[in-house]
Amino acid sequence: MTGQLRHMLRDDDINHEEQKAILRLGMRFRSDRFYKRPFEGPQAVAVLFDKPSTRTRSSFSIGVAELGGYPLVIDKSGSQLGRGEPVEDTARVLTRMASAIVWRTYGQDRVEQMARYATVPVVNALTDEFHPCQVLADFLTIAQMRGGVDALEGKTIAYLGDAANNMSNSYLLAGAVAGMHVRVAGPQGYLPDPVIVADAQRIAADNGGSILVTTDPREAVAGSDCVFTDTWVSMGEESEYAIRSKPFTPYQVNDELMGLAKPDALFQHCLPAYRGKEVTASVIDGAQSVVWDEAENRLHAQKALLTWLIGVQRGDEGLLA
Ligand code: CP
Ligand code: NVA
Repeated sequence: MTGQLRHMLRDDDINHEEQKAILRLGMRFRSDRFYKRPFEGPQAVAVLFDKPSTRTRSSFSIGVAELGGYPLVIDKSGSQLGRGEPVEDTARVLTRMASAIVWRTYGQDRVEQMARYATVPVVNALTDEFHPCQVLADFLTIAQMRGGVDALEGKTIAYLGDAANNMSNSYLLAGAVAGMHVRVAGPQGYLPDPVIVADAQRIAADNGGSILVTTDPREAVAGSDCVFTDTWVSMGEESEYAIRSKPFTPYQVNDELMGLAKPDALFQHCLPAYRGKEVTASVIDGAQSVVWDEAENRLHAQKALLTWLIGVQRGDEGLLA
């Protein structure tokens, strides 16, 4: 396993044991912010944004600095990528200077192309298809609240809303890797790609989990341990506000739907949240909501992920635990 170049482009780029190792490292970083410093020197990590960000930008910037490194944050408007420089040329340049590349962009093909030409780890900081760093933080939050990383196996999680978006896809794959029972619910026309569902089903079967895709929000939430939602209108889809409100309304996470989950169920939302749309204020600001821990856990989970990727690449066992 060590001495290998690995990337985190989608949630199933790591297996069950690797996901657990990263989450355990995340728990260590939660209790000791300076637990490991793989970029001490400092080495640079390139953090690129083609879309807006608050949490991802702050957690990677602060996280890389806490790992002893230098975060080089570049926005689309300030880079030649935004003027059409090929992804492969950008990869060839950054790989000569930075120890890792983190990128938020549009199509998944772009991060795949970056990884093909980079000789340092590439991390997907959100694409149209996946948001794996967010779900690592979300699972770290369950571990934090429910007695550790081993508690994830067998948990039932429900995701409601735009079931065809990046968060839905990432819950399907990461939940399958974790051995969870994953349920996603959304309106007809906003359900996940069958290819991703098939991947998730195959991985879930290997890890003792299961996958349910439904248009019935009640079926998804009933008896679940954690309820997730996300904006109904993702970045780049802003023109669809008007047409989405009506079909999505039955999937709003409100007190009635939360009441169908387990009495101690957690509520999580990757943020930014739109109160009165995908979630009521009573739920996101209520007693079951752990969204601020979830946001903080972006920092710990991503520091763990970067440390693990660098540890694997260097063959440095000391960084892996
Ligand atoms: N959840 C998340 O990725 O937030 P940002 O868009 O603010 O980075
Ligand atoms: N699905 C949302 C997630 C934001 C963190 C989007 O892509 O805009």
